[in-house]
Amino acid sequence: MSLFEDAEQGRSRREELCSGAVVLRRFALSDETAILAALDGLMAEAPLRHMVTPGGFRMSVAMTNCGSWGWVTDNTGYRYDAIDPQSGKPWPGMPDVFAKLAQEAAADAGFEGFVPDACLINRYAPGARLSLHQDKNERDFGAPIVSVSLGIPAVFLFGGSRREEKAMRVRLTHGDVVVWGGPARLRYHGVLPLKEDYHPLTGGHRINLTFRKAA
Ligand code: SIN
Ligand code: FE2
Repeated sequence: MSLFEDAEQGRSRREELCSGAVVLRRFALSDETAILAALDGLMAEAPLRHMVTPGGFRMSVAMTNCGSWGWVTDNTGYRYDAIDPQSGKPWPGMPDVFAKLAQEAAADAGFEGFVPDACLINRYAPGARLSLHQDKNERDFGAPIVSVSLGIPAVFLFGGSRREEKAMRVRLTHGDVVVWGGPARLRYHGVLPLKEDYHPLTGGHRINLTFRKAA
């Protein structure tokens, strides 16, 4: 979609949350079909699962990964692992359409040359939530985080660099991409419990792809 069309439809395409963090509205829309087709294959190879936190809680969000590194949690802690602990095999490769989308979104947000090596795939059913956290298992914080939303809407919480700071509430819908890096790289963020809804491409679910440079 061109900027002209956005203006014509009265939408602002880019919303800055703070220095280093931006929402690119509908940025992933033109890749929706390719992304969802690729996801079917990935999920057949590395099925979604509810991981357990180090504290012993089952996560409400179902997760899997693609790329060289996958984010995992179990009773020993959080880590990036090249091997899917469930299959004993490497995670499926990152589809080109994923890597390209993440790189373009990062560049659009001012982070040129982003090459993700990890993509966490989160699937939310109604009621699923993600409590406030920082993404800090990556080796260096020079690269941004690129987060793609598909399917039913969610309220994304975007907080400060301390957990106590009041978080902004940002409604994310199908195709929206959030990028945060630089001064915003370690901001706390999370997702409020999802409300029931329906999207023609994902049914009753929201899917989020989080791209990172882990290693
Ligand atoms: C995450 O922080 O890993 C996911 C955020 C989201 O689902 O929007
Ligand atoms: Fe996160």
